Amino acid sequence: MSIISKDISKAVALLNAEEIVAIPTETVYGLAGNIYSEKAIKSIFETKQRPFFNPLIVHISSVDYLSQIVEHIPEKAKLLAEAFWPGPITLVLKKKNTIPDVITASKDTVAVRVPNHPTTLELLRQLDFPLAAPSANPFSSISPTTAAHVETYFKDNIKMVLDGGACKSGIESTIIGFENNQPIIYRLGSTAIEDIEAVVGEIQIKNKKEIAPDAPGMLERHYAPKTKTILTDNILGMVDLYKGKRIGIITFQSEIANSNIEVQIALSKTGDLAESASKLYDVLHQLDKMYLDVIIAEKFPEYGLGKSINDRLSRATK
Ligand code: TXA
Ligand code: MG
Repeated sequence: MSIISKDISKAVALLNAEEIVAIPTETVYGLAGNIYSEKAIKSIFETKQRPFFNPLIVHISSVDYLSQIVEHIPEKAKLLAEAFWPGPITLVLKKKNTIPDVITASKDTVAVRVPNHPTTLELLRQLDFPLAAPSANPFSSISPTTAAHVETYFKDNIKMVLDGGACKSGIESTIIGFENNQPIIYRLGSTAIEDIEAVVGEIQIKNKKEIAPDAPGMLERHYAPKTKTILTDNILGMVDLYKGKRIGIITFQSEIANSNIEVQIALSKTGDLAESASKLYDVLHQLDKMYLDVIIAEKFPEYGLGKSINDRLSRATK
């Protein structure tokens, strides 16, 4: 029997009973549990096979809840929350002592966001506690953007996927930390840097090596298909190099005329980066099931969501 259901009250009952439930968000599906339940949080880590040193994001129903989670809200964090919540920005701020150490991997900061999905906002309003939710995929595999992706991963391990349709943004939230009260990007994501800069001024991206102690998960091979994956700005050259192999191609806009290609998918025929981001993981899931020898992806333009897409594709190649 399918574990996929639209029944919010069933999800409420399971979460109140310290079980975990996969939930839809605008970015990717999350594997959610009560932040105050040690049982639920342990179960999230076990189900995902995620190492305990990698902290979780806390999901709240509105910005009004923020002061119950964090100790101090820098001025620019307030501006970002007002501008983008509900939406795909996660703020990493000094945590309140009441936030359990298992959520934050014993750090003194906590990651928090208000997701922009009507089903999950309604779910959060019906619960007396926030939800911790990492992406609902086994550690380091491709994040799920449909309820079916989650079911394929976890049908034997979890009781329910709350169905909210396909995720509209399609890649994870942009994570922003604060150093001396100034924002800095820890992870590129579904909110473009240019949009963030329009609110808080110029912002740096934290060097990946420096992030390691702060957010270990970001360094690993991540968001990765099982099939060998290559990111290139010379797609025809790569296709030639793999001549005779079963090749799958991901491009931005245009199709490529080349008889060596087994399957090719252009993410947006109209050149829309948001549309490309929303389809990216589903296309990787599809290609990964086709027993290809190699997936060759075209480098996206290095601005707006193109930067975030290139970030995810380059991690998929590691
Ligand atoms: O869009 C998203 O953010 C999705 C949906 C479900 O909300 N969630 C998500 O969670 O991508 P996850 O666990 O797959 O990625 C969260 C990242 C991890 O790389 C973790 O290391 C980082 O956030 N993180 C969590 N707490 C942190 C903290 N206190 N300091 C720095 N990084 C933190
Ligand atoms: Mg993840």
